Amino acid sequence: MGAVKNLVKLLILVEVAVALAGPGVAALSMNYYGMNCPFAEYIVRSVVSDAVMGDPTLAAGLLRLHFHDCFVQGCDASVLLDAAPGSKAEKDALANKSLRGFEVIDKIKDTLEAQCPGVVTCADILALAARDAVLMVGGPYYDVPQGRRDGRRSVDTDTLTALPSPFLNASALITLFGTHGFNVQDMVALSGGHTLGVAHCPSFTPRLKFEASTLDAGFASSLAATCNKGGDSASATFDRTSTAFDGVYFKELQQRRGLLSSDQTLYESPETQRLVNMFAMNQGYFFYAFTQGMGKMGQIDLKEGDRGEVRKSCRVVNKPSW
Ligand code: HEM
Repeated sequence: MGAVKNLVKLLILVEVAVALAGPGVAALSMNYYGMNCPFAEYIVRSVVSDAVMGDPTLAAGLLRLHFHDCFVQGCDASVLLDAAPGSKAEKDALANKSLRGFEVIDKIKDTLEAQCPGVVTCADILALAARDAVLMVGGPYYDVPQGRRDGRRSVDTDTLTALPSPFLNASALITLFGTHGFNVQDMVALSGGHTLGVAHCPSFTPRLKFEASTLDAGFASSLAATCNKGGDSASATFDRTSTAFDGVYFKELQQRRGLLSSDQTLYESPETQRLVNMFAMNQGYFFYAFTQGMGKMGQIDLKEGDRGEVRKSCRVVNKPSW
């Protein structure tokens, strides 16, 4: 009996401590929707899996959406909001122009609203969809605790300092990622997200002009040919296996075939070269570090309780009820 009383006391103490800790403490948990929407994770996985099977390049789009959501105002699905008339939303910012996968998120949300209206947030959908997309194309599985809330603010200029430019060097990347709570290993592993997808010419043509010494000559001429022919809308893949989540991105950095300046700098800088070499040599270690980084990313600046809402449509904030 005494032991039970002690246990009850302990539980109360823990609850009080959590309540006192207040906003800022992650309120995420596994199986968060277990009671109100038990098939939520299954629904996300099945829509993502159909989408990625139809178009494997969408995996890249879904991963990047989650990253660009979390780095601006935290993981609150602010990146999904359409602009209100007369204003510009995050998705209208230059750094977000080539984001894709929005229609997959809409489809997941529609399916979830039909099953359990008003329960699953768009921010959780983004986090789960990114995880499932990575898994679908051969990447590692990691748990995604849930309970994020959707935000009501989305302003294009918020992206300016929050998102990394492709022209940053390793020290600047370390600093920027550091402001979001990431260490150097997290930053290099997360950059390995560029094992998927493409970049458009304006993101890398300055590198062709100014970085010959760290750029493989054959690779440079093929990129130049692509951009001369196709202009700003032409694109190149980050690595040779751009629809497979693997360690090839890091091997190509060693061969001076990094697409963006911000990719190649990871190999050129003494602060990060050791990590690039390690991830290139040991894909398992890259996967491990990537899942650590994604776990942290999914918890950036969470909104809690009445600081957020469960949006009905991922593209618009709910109407105030008063
Ligand atoms: C380290 C700093 C980073 C910089 C400077 C950066 C920059 C960029 C740029 C410029 C593009 C191409 C945009 C375009 O030209 O269309 C891109 C694409 C992409 N980024 Fe990053 N990124 C960074 C980190 C990350 C992280 C942490 C992830 C995910 C974990 C990520 C995932 C992606 C993916 C998957 C694509 C391809 C998207 C597609 O094919 O649609 N990036 N990134």
